[in-house]
Amino acid sequence: MICSILLLIILTSCVSGTFVVNVTQTSYQAEENHHITLEWTFTTNPHTSSNSLNIFCELFTDLRPSVLFHLHEGVEVPESQDEQFAGRVQWDKDVLREGRLRLHVSRLRTEDTGLYKCQVITSYGRNSGKCWLNVTAAADEPKPQRPTVRPEPESLGNIWILYAGLAAAAVAAVLLILYLKRLFVFNPCLSYCSCNYMLTSKFSY
Ligand SMILES: *[C@@H]1O[C@H](CO)[C@@H](O)[C@H](O)[C@H]1NC(C)=O
Repeated sequence: MICSILLLIILTSCVSGTFVVNVTQTSYQAEENHHITLEWTFTTNPHTSSNSLNIFCELFTDLRPSVLFHLHEGVEVPESQDEQFAGRVQWDKDVLREGRLRLHVSRLRTEDTGLYKCQVITSYGRNSGKCWLNVTAAADEPKPQRPTVRPEPESLGNIWILYAGLAAAAVAAVLLILYLKRLFVFNPCLSYCSCNYMLTSKFSY
């Protein structure tokens, strides 16, 4: 009895010990809107088909875990996938048989940053591997906003120059009118003298 329990413990530790899930890279660095390939490797067994393969990949952040990829008995389960990754994850079916899980994540977002854990469950063992992904914000993002903002103060300045010009023209016109009025209407001497001169010159004949 004791012998059989010991044998069972040795066998299970042996089986679970032989099945490993590795990561090719422990940490990845990428920029927003770019794409990345995360890769895991796991022990293969030539005697079992890929139909017995179950993979569950999750992203762990401060907020909540979200499902990145789910393979059930060799078939992908898109319904399990979190909407955060909908339409952005592709996997290499060909290399899976070689014990390589390659996940291509496109159009990266800053919220994709976190710990990625893939759990591989087979009929001959189970294990998991983790890697870290850091997505940085695109550096050139605020640039396109500036040229659209710039023309506004310029056009505003043009409007003010136009107003100032119109005001100056109006002031000049008023001053000219006042000057002409003073010259001919409000100067009694000028009008009287010229009139008097005209009269006297008329009567002299
Ligand atoms: C996992 O990594 C170990 C140590 O680097 C290596 O010996 C082993 O072959 C790897 N296994 C797989 C399946 O990648």
